[in-house]
This record gives sequence, structure tokens and C-alpha cells, in this order.
Amino acid sequence: MFVFKAAVVGAGTMGGEIAQVMASADVPVVLKDVDRKFIDQGLEKARQVTEAQLGRLVKKEKLTQEQADAQLEDVVGRIQGTTEYEGFGEVDFVVEAVPEKMEVKQAVFGELDAVTPGHAILASNTSSLSISEMAEATSRPDKVVGFHFFYPASMMRLIEVVEGDETSPETMQAAANFAQAIRKMPIRCAECPGFVGNRIANSAISEIWRAQEESGATPEEVDKLVSEAKVLPMGPFFLTDQLGLDTVLHVAEHLRDSYGDRFYVHKQMKELVEAGNLGAKTGKGFYEHGN
Ligand SMILES: NC(=O)c1ccc[n+]([C@@H]2O[C@H](COP(=O)([O-])OP(=O)(O)OC[C@H]3O[C@@H](n4cnc5c(N)ncnc54)[C@H](O)[C@@H]3O)[C@@H](O)[C@H]2O)c1
Repeated sequence: MFVFKAAVVGAGTMGGEIAQVMASADVPVVLKDVDRKFIDQGLEKARQVTEAQLGRLVKKEKLTQEQADAQLEDVVGRIQGTTEYEGFGEVDFVVEAVPEKMEVKQAVFGELDAVTPGHAILASNTSSLSISEMAEATSRPDKVVGFHFFYPASMMRLIEVVEGDETSPETMQAAANFAQAIRKMPIRCAECPGFVGNRIANSAISEIWRAQEESGATPEEVDKLVSEAKVLPMGPFFLTDQLGLDTVLHVAEHLRDSYGDRFYVHKQMKELVEAGNLGAKTGKGFYEHGN
């Protein structure tokens, strides 16, 4: 199946950049959120990321500034924002990137089933929830698949293509093909807790979280040490603030519940989430962020 037009639902931490990845690969994309201000933030993110990518090409003298300016407008111009499902009647592939809550995802999948053509593949960027349960909200469970990008979507090449109970082999293949068409590297995953990437990443980060709480070192001290050791591009607590504490907590709890106490749930993170401090997106998490 060829994807002539795609859509992304949810223009938050992940959605804006996912739309940017598609638009950069010449795929027209509709970006939907519940409020215009979230769409504007998603579009702004897409513009910033594209500008930075093209700026690097100008620096390497692979593009002139004029060419870069024109390409920037082309890429951003391929993303159409909407608070309704305007334009969804002609999409071939949708990536859902709304908050990690099954009831919200199922409501969105039910709506997508109604507004998209019958052949369209409905994919979820979920980090941990069941693809099969989302598929139950549709009349096309064979066309529902996991399509898990990693943060930041514009830079990270991996996409986990996750097979639900009813996902057809044709849908798995079409999703892998589309991942390659947008210059990503697909891997096929079973529907198991944490899939592959988060299961590996969380086993390591669990040890950092545990050591921080047991030692009484501050998150800032741990971030400084880990950054200086250059094992991660930034400190793990600062990174968690960028990812969104609600999403990270949900994955951590899911892995602990599924595999036992070798996966750790950071206590302060849970308290921060309960107080509504979700990291960079709300202005406060382990750190204060000027928004
Ligand atoms: N943050 C990460 O690092 C990361 C990485 C990989 C996968 N994911 C997954 O991606 C998904 C989105 O995560 P996020 O971090 O971007 O969340 P987020 O909270 O930053 O953004 C979610 C967006 O969805 C919008 N939304 C809520 N209900 C909606 C609806 N009914 N229709 C349209 N839009 C709606 C919200 O307004 C918000 O803008 C989750 O499933 C998460 O597990 C997140």
C-alpha cells in the first residue's frame, strides 16, 4: 500500500515531530489536536526541527540559504493543522499520539474508524498499552498496529512495529514499508510489556532511579555525574522532564507490574505526577522550565 497522505492525532511532545518526519519525507500530513494552541505548538516544533536540520546542511555547504528557506516552507506547508477531523477522509495511514490512557486511545480509535477510508491503517505510538485493546474500538482490527517512535522522533531512527492479536501480515508489512519511506528503521515486535526499546532502557534507568533514592543524592547530582561520564546525551532526570513524567511513570509502572521489582518506580516522580508537574510540558518536573 502506498501512503499518499498521512495523519497524526495529538500534537504534543511526540506528535509535532512525528508530523515533521512525515512532511520531511514529502508526505502530506494532517495534524489534529483538541485545541488550536496545541496545534500551533506542534507546528512551531516542526518548524524549529526542520530549520535546525536544514541549517546543518547549509553549514556543510550542501544547500544554499535560499534553498534551505524554500525547503523549510515546503516541509511546514505539507502539515495541515485541524481541531476537527478535516482532511481525514483521504488519509492512508494515521499515527495516534494522544496521552497514554486506554480510554482516551479507544475513543480516538473509534472516531478514526468512522472518519477514515476503510483501507486506512490506524497505528498507535503507544509506549506500553495493548494494541489489541485499541483495535477492539474499531471495525478493522486487522488494520490496527503499533508504530512506536522514540523521543525525539525527528532524530531517533527506530520504529517498533507492534503486532496486535488481529493485525494482518499485510498491515505489518505496509507499516514497515511506511517506516522506511519516512527514513526510519522498523523492527517487528510482539505485543509484550515495554516492547524492545523501553524494556532495555528501563532496566538501566531503574538502577539509576534506585541508586538516587537509596543514596540520597539529588537528581541534579546524578545528572551531572552521568552527563560527565558521557553514557547518555543528557542527565537521566533532565531527559525524563523532556519525555514527560506522566508517560515515563506509566511505562515504569507497567514494567514493574509485568516483570516484578527488578523494574523500579521512582517515588519522587510519582509524587510530581500526582501534583500535576509533568516536566517541560507543564513548566516543572525535576527541574523548573521557562515556557
Ligand atoms: N513522550 C515520549 O517520550 C514518548 C515516546 C514514545 C512514545 N510516546 C507515546 O506517545 C503518545 C503521546 O505521548 P506525548 O508524550 O506526545 O503526550 P503529550 O501529553 O505531550 O501530548 C498528547 C497530546 O494529545 C492531545 N490530545 C488529547 N486528547 C486528544 C484527542 N482526543 N484528540 C486529539 N488530541 C488529543 C493533547 O492535547 C496533547 O497535545 C503516548 O502514547 C506515549 O506513550 C511518548
